[in-house]
Amino acid sequence: MSFPHHRPRRLRQTPALRRLVAEHRLHPAELILPAFIREGLSEPSPIQSMPGVVQHTSETLKRAAAEAAELGLGGIMLFGVPEERDANGTASLDPDGVLNSAIRDVRAEVGDSLVVMSDVCLDEFTDHGHCGVLDAQGRVDNDATLEIYAQMAVAQAEAGAHVLGPSGMMDGQVAVIRQALDTAGRQDVAVLAYAAKYASAFYGPFREAVDSQLKGDRRTYQMDAANRREALLEVELDLEEGADMVMVKPAMSYLDILADVAAMSPVPVAAYQISGEYAMIEAAAANGWIDRKSAIVESVLGIRRAGANMVLTYWAPEMARWLREA
Ligand code: PBG
Repeated sequence: MSFPHHRPRRLRQTPALRRLVAEHRLHPAELILPAFIREGLSEPSPIQSMPGVVQHTSETLKRAAAEAAELGLGGIMLFGVPEERDANGTASLDPDGVLNSAIRDVRAEVGDSLVVMSDVCLDEFTDHGHCGVLDAQGRVDNDATLEIYAQMAVAQAEAGAHVLGPSGMMDGQVAVIRQALDTAGRQDVAVLAYAAKYASAFYGPFREAVDSQLKGDRRTYQMDAANRREALLEVELDLEEGADMVMVKPAMSYLDILADVAAMSPVPVAAYQISGEYAMIEAAAANGWIDRKSAIVESVLGIRRAGANMVLTYWAPEMARWLREA
């Protein structure tokens, strides 16, 4: 009888051994909490398709940000839901609009103890729900949109954002935002580029979270799920345009992309575990079909293992509490 020469099981025998040889471990500082604030709310409003996630009032958002800082999270990514929408998303430029006010409030609350990030995109502000403005034929007009992004970026920087997250997938968006920030004297504000962002069915619950008005889809600007090589082009362009960090989104169905980007990117790589990924795990757990906590930890560990330096996840505060207890 011949016995195995190699016994990898030796290092799996006890929790202490497994901990010793773990190649990755989670830390609150690499988790970023995406958060929604809705204008005109008096009470936080639950998002049905994302159990446990709410649209915040300005008060509850401040509390969530203070808690995130206290838990040692890496950052908070703010999304605003305005009361008024129009074809050009004008409310996005109002210094006292929902998102810009939220940035100012959150910065006043947390100072520099938490990285304050904000979404530079028009979809929450337009009445047609697209990430850009439309031309006479109803197509998303890339270059007209860039002019608005540049102004949004400066408004968000003035409100106090440390990092801007352009998520609209317009060509050239990082370059115009960088240039606008520099011209406005905001060389200090960083850009986290949604470099490889795919058109995904898993954004479904987010559309509820921001009361999206979108009819149709975003396939003329977001990437096609069939493509892998193209992600590297998107990342290279964003780096050339001055991105300080790059993101892959969604995460779980795009771990190959994440690994590719992690292998070539000289700047930090983020991944966004999006609303549908959250909803799937919550729904399966609510049915008793999977163990909630282990599934959440495994999903985020997988994203880190694929190469993300930081992960945007709606579970960030809860995970930070688990890590504190561990
Ligand atoms: C667009 C944007 C979206 C998300 C973040 N920014 C939606 C979309 O592209 O349709 C989705 C995030 C999530 O699903 O959790 N501003």
